[in-house]
Amino acid sequence: MYDLTINGKSQKVDVAPDTPVLWVLRDHVKLLGTKYGCGIAQCGACTIHLGKVAVRSCTLPVSAVGNQPITTIEGLSDDGDHAVQKAWLEHDVAQCGYCQAGQIMSAVALLNSNPTPSDADIESAMSGNICRCATYLRIKAAIKSAAE
Ligand code: FES
Ligand code: FES
Repeated sequence: MYDLTINGKSQKVDVAPDTPVLWVLRDHVKLLGTKYGCGIAQCGACTIHLGKVAVRSCTLPVSAVGNQPITTIEGLSDDGDHAVQKAWLEHDVAQCGYCQAGQIMSAVALLNSNPTPSDADIESAMSGNICRCATYLRIKAAIKSAAE
């Protein structure tokens, strides 16, 4: 049994130690905003925050979480009004939307650690988040706008 703090709420889950956090979130806690893409830490669709750090939940075993808080896309704000979410709307970033929760979680982690990122900082921080719809230019513009 693991006692996790997810989006500020205590959640007890009875799962094997090697269960990826992605499956804990989706199957056990029913938070479906975090997406499965590749399952091998290559696409970024499953990005969440562990503490303040963006991590790939598909390869993070629940046993590695300890007492660090987990934040998912659902936990960023009550009504979608986090500065990064607002910038995403302003720049009309999403196309199919599948990758976007992961993109936003990576962007928020970047801005939390570096509120005024350079283009190179943004490219480096976002390089692990793949978008099959190629929304990269709008993602970059939205991050710059959220940073202002
Ligand atoms: S599903 Fe986790 S990185 Fe692709
Ligand atoms: S918006 Fe479709 S995969 Fe990124």
